[in-house]
Amino acid sequence: MSNLDNGAEATEEAGSGAIQAAPVLELRNISKAFGAVQALSNVSLELRDREILALVGDNAAGKSTLMKIAAGVVRQDSGEIWIRGQRTTLLTPLDARAKGIEMIFQDLALFDTLDVASNIFIGREASVGPFWLKKKPMWDQAAKLLAELRVNISSPQLKVERMSGGQRQMVAVARALAFGNQILIMDEPTAALGVRESTAVLETIKRLSETHSIMLITQRLPDVSDLADRVLVLKGGRSQGILNVPDVTIDDIARMIVTGSELDPDGVRVN
Ligand SMILES: Nc1ncnc2c1ncn2[C@@H]1O[C@H](COP(=O)(O)OP(=O)(O)OP(=O)(O)O)[C@@H](O)[C@H]1O
Ligand SMILES: [Mg+2]
Repeated sequence: MSNLDNGAEATEEAGSGAIQAAPVLELRNISKAFGAVQALSNVSLELRDREILALVGDNAAGKSTLMKIAAGVVRQDSGEIWIRGQRTTLLTPLDARAKGIEMIFQDLALFDTLDVASNIFIGREASVGPFWLKKKPMWDQAAKLLAELRVNISSPQLKVERMSGGQRQMVAVARALAFGNQILIMDEPTAALGVRESTAVLETIKRLSETHSIMLITQRLPDVSDLADRVLVLKGGRSQGILNVPDVTIDDIARMIVTGSELDPDGVRVN
């Protein structure tokens, strides 16, 4: 086990003799109520190294709440969070970030009146201190990140307020990447985008999955079949199961979102 890096716990699969690294992120039996609303009941998932795990379900199914719990924004009422085989508690978003988890929110939370670079580095050293001292390295780093993402933004000194939905999404992605964390949670990154911009964002997500483990909340089922390795279906705050995307059709997933897991007798459920 000592040959595994970052302290990951290893488990031996029964009978196979294969050593498997622990999931990068594991949620076990998570429940959360907001007053009378039971937003989540006993939801579990495992995010594997460098996979894209999609999270789907109707409005109010609990998708954002589940991911906010994984990002330290919302605290679960019960259930456990494990990171790379170690049980942990996420006290705040900063705490989650320090433990390797970065979330890009549904509303992106960008500062419209600031430029791209400031949005990427806000709250960090490069954005404080004397203007003349810190701006240049910040611009350089932002330009490098944008180039890596192959984003269509000509300068990190542009203000975010005039940007398109796709460009704004990319700024939010660049900000998330700037922290160097490996676990990325994206909440409906293409929801507000047109076809061309969606395609560009999805291509970026696909490329990022070579180096990152990604939780992708989406309502767009074609995006699931194009991008995701597995998909977790939530309905009324309950998990309907996790499907292997290559084994199912979009119709299978749609049926599960609407009617729940019972109507899948043909072996499409994998756990
Ligand atoms: N801060 C909150 N206070 C009270 N209720 C909340 C809060 N956050 C979420 N809820 C409720 O919890 C349930 C799940 O909401 P959540 O935002 O997780 O759903 P979702 O699957 O992300 O939906 P959508 O597709 O519309 O984004 C909803 O009934 C919602 O109204
Ligand atoms: Mg949501």
